[in-house]
Amino acid sequence: MGNKFSKSWINMRVGYDNISRSTILLDHINKLSQEDDIDLIDLYCGSGNFLIWSLDKNISFNNCILVDHDIKLLKSIKSNLRTHLRPMYSIQSNTNNLDLLIKKNSEILSTISIKKNDCDSYRCSCEKYHVISYSAALDIMPKPSIGSALKRIKKNNILYFSLCFNGKVRWTPTNTFDKYILTFFNNHQRSDKGFGKALGSKSIEFIKQKADKLNLNITIKDSPWIIKNKFDKDKVFMKRYILDIKKSLFHMEGIDKDILRKWYQDKKSEIDNKKIQLYVGHNDILLYKK
Ligand SMILES: C[S@@+](CC[C@H](N)C(=O)[O-])C[C@H]1O[C@@H](n2cnc3c(N)ncnc32)[C@H](O)[C@@H]1O
Repeated sequence: MGNKFSKSWINMRVGYDNISRSTILLDHINKLSQEDDIDLIDLYCGSGNFLIWSLDKNISFNNCILVDHDIKLLKSIKSNLRTHLRPMYSIQSNTNNLDLLIKKNSEILSTISIKKNDCDSYRCSCEKYHVISYSAALDIMPKPSIGSALKRIKKNNILYFSLCFNGKVRWTPTNTFDKYILTFFNNHQRSDKGFGKALGSKSIEFIKQKADKLNLNITIKDSPWIIKNKFDKDKVFMKRYILDIKKSLFHMEGIDKDILRKWYQDKKSEIDNKKIQLYVGHNDILLYKK
């Protein structure tokens, strides 16, 4: 697999991600003084979905830096913000779409600076940014990248890993081969997808151990996708999800291709017949110094 993320998949996820995200960040921010301006650095930002969710929940950041190494995704941030946030917010930009202003009722609410960079080597004065976000990223990160993220925690900020895949997938009704496929899928998540060997769902246990060692406060909440297959878009989403699983596992060592094909075909027809529901486990994890 290449090290690029599909823009269409990230965009398809946004609605499901938004309803899955937990309240831990909101709860934390509500405890801060109302007068405080809050600044954000969103690493592994993709096409800006975390910022969109934040604004939708009335979490507004004063200065924001969004960093990713994929310029195609970065260049789509402006149109993504516009699609999801208008008419409540207006989005203005410079010519290259990498410096944005978000306005509400003609007042500037946020200035956004978009940077193409490797996130692990990206240098910032992290103490200036109150929220350091990694959304839908933890499970693809190798250990050294998680280590770099933890080093960004300073006295006045929080580190927020949201939508971290926790390895649990449940189909209702189940299929004989679900467990078999999930085992391969979780192993695949721990392979090197071009960023170094990821920890996959084991990253959550790793973070817990690190938090303990570093004496950090840690709060964890569930943020699963629960997809009930009520609307056509659910069908499209679930079909894309199983297709991506099939493609990812097809060339894995040891996989029985006949089982994989049968599992895929059965799921596809169950999705078409609306008989099926999908649960994909995620966790949101908030860390800060004690
Ligand atoms: C699953 S996407 C999540 C995107 C976004 N945060 C969201 O919630 O939709 C993971 C993102 O991490 C980026 N990425 C992965 N490794 C990176 C690295 N070392 N430096 C910068 N970006 C990276 C990919 O380009 C991709 O946009």
